[in-house]
Amino acid sequence: MGKLSMKLCNFPLSKFREIFIINKMNIKPCNRLRNKALRVFFLMGAGLALFGQNIPKSLSMEKLIMQSYRPIVIAHRGFRSIAPENTLLAAQKGFDIGADMWELDVAASSDGILVVLHDNTLTRTTDAKTRFPSRSPWIIYDFTFDELKSLDAGSWYSKTDPFMQIAYGRVGSSELESFKDLRIPTLREALELTKRLGWRVNIEIKDATGFACDAWIVEKTAELIKELDMVPSVLISSFNHDYLKRMKMAIPEISVAALIDKPISDPVQRLKDIGAVALNPNEKYLDEATVRALRSAGLGVLPWTVNDPSRMRMLLNWGATGLITDFPDRALELVK
Ligand code: G3P
Ligand code: MG
Repeated sequence: MGKLSMKLCNFPLSKFREIFIINKMNIKPCNRLRNKALRVFFLMGAGLALFGQNIPKSLSMEKLIMQSYRPIVIAHRGFRSIAPENTLLAAQKGFDIGADMWELDVAASSDGILVVLHDNTLTRTTDAKTRFPSRSPWIIYDFTFDELKSLDAGSWYSKTDPFMQIAYGRVGSSELESFKDLRIPTLREALELTKRLGWRVNIEIKDATGFACDAWIVEKTAELIKELDMVPSVLISSFNHDYLKRMKMAIPEISVAALIDKPISDPVQRLKDIGAVALNPNEKYLDEATVRALRSAGLGVLPWTVNDPSRMRMLLNWGATGLITDFPDRALELVK
């Protein structure tokens, strides 16, 4: 990597980011500051044109979150507004649009295979109900790997049009036809694709408390990441913060982020206790003071799930280090 490129990735850009976002919001900062910002902007533009890349692939996960020259964009369950979530196709579409990484959810089959699915049950995103009518309430952890692999994990999208992208004409009939072939991926398949693409992934480990795999889901995930030599390109997150501590025991150098739904009393201390690099909060309950406190403590903030561009702008202006979104295209338009 050239020197200019190195400088660009390590540039401490909190100031520039504020100026840049202020400009996007059409609020004029003072002239001197603006000229300075413009100089940096052109320098970066030239650098990027020269090196023909976005954020350098060699940047470690922690640096990506904290020192990237712009906020990062994470395709939530892949580019799930235009393809069935948590499938390899949704991941590929997130990559193709230019997202910096994708987020996926990990669960496990009854016979011990790590698989990628969001819900505890199979009913919303597969045809399990018709294929296995007697297996109510279709809990994923109760199905074998072969059973899970036999399910259609794509057709539901055409039936529900979850983000109205079929109605808007963005997802056409030939694509819908191809969704029928989609299967629940294993975590291995998802990681292998990510690696092949030279990409990054946020692995969210679903809280499996009460199921047998609770005893090993974290450690098995860690083993797979190590086996595939993907530690630097993975961010681990979970609402179960004990899982994060277990992950740090298994791989001390791995980056982890604490997911929270509702606000917690001292997020900075919580992250320090875990050894986490970032907080991944529900954007609905996030406030500016929390974002600024985390940033001042040198920690990242990756809110989910932000789909509205004006809310995206606001969170970035507060100092969010990235966005987890179903519409990575919208976020990229703001940050690039
Ligand atoms: O990781 C961000 C987000 O995915 C957390 O919530 O329910 O969409 O997995 P959920
Ligand atoms: Mg998730």
